[in-house]
Amino acid sequence: VIFDSSQEASIIVAQEIAGLIKEKQSLNTPCILGLATGSSPIKVYEELVRMHKEEGLSFANVITFNLDEYYPMDKDNIQSYFYFMHEHLFNHVDILPENINIPSGTISNEELYQYCIDYETKIKSLGGLDFQLLGIGRTGHIGFNEPGSHFNSGTRSITLDHITRVDAAPAFLGIDNVPRKAITMGVGTVRSAKRIVLLGWGISKANVLKKTIEGDITPQVPATYLQEHNNTTFVLDKGASSEL
Ligand code: GLP
Repeated sequence: VIFDSSQEASIIVAQEIAGLIKEKQSLNTPCILGLATGSSPIKVYEELVRMHKEEGLSFANVITFNLDEYYPMDKDNIQSYFYFMHEHLFNHVDILPENINIPSGTISNEELYQYCIDYETKIKSLGGLDFQLLGIGRTGHIGFNEPGSHFNSGTRSITLDHITRVDAAPAFLGIDNVPRKAITMGVGTVRSAKRIVLLGWGISKANVLKKTIEGDITPQVPATYLQEHNNTTFVLDKGASSEL
């Protein structure tokens, strides 16, 4: 779906998420949301915060799982995804702290493998993700599933691509400060969501979105795996769709 502006598109996406939260509330069941970081979802979170403040949208029944986190990374580091999520959403709504799940950037190397298995198990034990919000990286990554990621991969540690680190460099004040690794939900984890919405804004994403939407399914562009998902929508603005 192509919108004139990312602002307009973000409001529609936020409305869908709010509708799902309310539907689950009426059924008295938790709403399991997979959430993303980066600049793409910021306006969606802004709109959800507005709906909480002005329209009384409650997050009391919401359980969230974030896609990824740099590794290693302290929670209070302003470049952490933990910090990002609190700054843009969690600090401003009534979500219960115990319902927030973000991969830990401080888990020890020895515990990392089991930690990733447990993250995956927790999602499954809650019945899976009802909704997964995604951005896309220039490498075609979703979460931090870089080129080469298996379509069935689960939560795991991953080595970041050079392009991903170059793109993150300004936020870290230089590429040397960008972590080389991250923990990410897998492509399989993402694909198991009942509904997926991928956001793409601006001309810098046009090329990778052309490959993702019109190209062959390939591990070299992990987002192409979404072509096989039966309930995915790519929500784009004019710039991002300019090569389609
Ligand atoms: C990071 C995140 C991705 C995100 C991507 C794009 O790599 N791990 O989940 O989709 O950035 O970021 P932006 O939305 O800022 O373009």
